[in-house]
Amino acid sequence: MANSAFTRTVGIHLEIKTMECKNKVFIATSLDGYIADKNGGIDWLHSIPNPENIDMGYGEFTSQIDALVMGRTTFETVCGFDMDWPYQKPVFVLSNSMTSIPNKYEGKAEIVKGTLQEILEQIHIKGYYSLYIDGGRTIQSFLKEDLIDEMTITIIPYLLGGGIPLFNELTERLDFECVNSEIYLAKVVQNQFVRKR
Ligand SMILES: NC(=O)c1ccc[n+]([C@@H]2O[C@H](COP(=O)([O-])OP(=O)(O)OC[C@H]3O[C@@H](n4cnc5c(N)ncnc54)[C@H](OP(=O)(O)O)[C@@H]3O)[C@@H](O)[C@H]2O)c1
Repeated sequence: MANSAFTRTVGIHLEIKTMECKNKVFIATSLDGYIADKNGGIDWLHSIPNPENIDMGYGEFTSQIDALVMGRTTFETVCGFDMDWPYQKPVFVLSNSMTSIPNKYEGKAEIVKGTLQEILEQIHIKGYYSLYIDGGRTIQSFLKEDLIDEMTITIIPYLLGGGIPLFNELTERLDFECVNSEIYLAKVVQNQFVRKR
């Protein structure tokens, strides 16, 4: 009896987890698909005048996620910003080279290693199911394993001519549906795509 109740509880828990597990991207690119310029710079992302400081849906997006998963390079970029730690949710940093988080960021971020499936299991077990996936190579490696469910891509209308790309080669085609489009500041288009499985 106790055993079947346990099985039922685990079954329900697994079902809820499967329903809620989502990996989401919210990122800005240039018109030619770069997330950083040839020098790794991202100043251009904020160069369109935004007098009312509209957040282009970022606040609503982050209110719907449980945690962030970012590549080591993106983590180092954020650590280099001259501002307070910008995240209110737990941050998991993918890195095979880092052995510890710098003292200043202890308790704010933690390093995760292993295959993406192992990493996701580690994170889900902690109760975080809706994840914000960030960083170019990181997003590319999630896409290679068809692990991205939603992508909100804000296109800044510059041709950078080179830099760090959002996408690279995949072994097979992945189909997405565009479920929403917005134009911000009369210059920037934001498209929301959902994976069509
Ligand atoms: N436009 C935007 O909205 C936006 C958003 C985010 C970032 N950015 C910019 O994008 C740049 C960073 O992107 P990035 O493509 O260079 O790198 P990234 O995805 O941030 O980090 C890549 C690093 O993550 C680690 N890693 C460990 N496991 C991995 C795995 N399975 N898949 C991928 N990476 C793994 C590796 O570091 P180890 O060598 O330590 O293992 C790898 O070198 C920065 O310039 C940042 O400012 C722009």
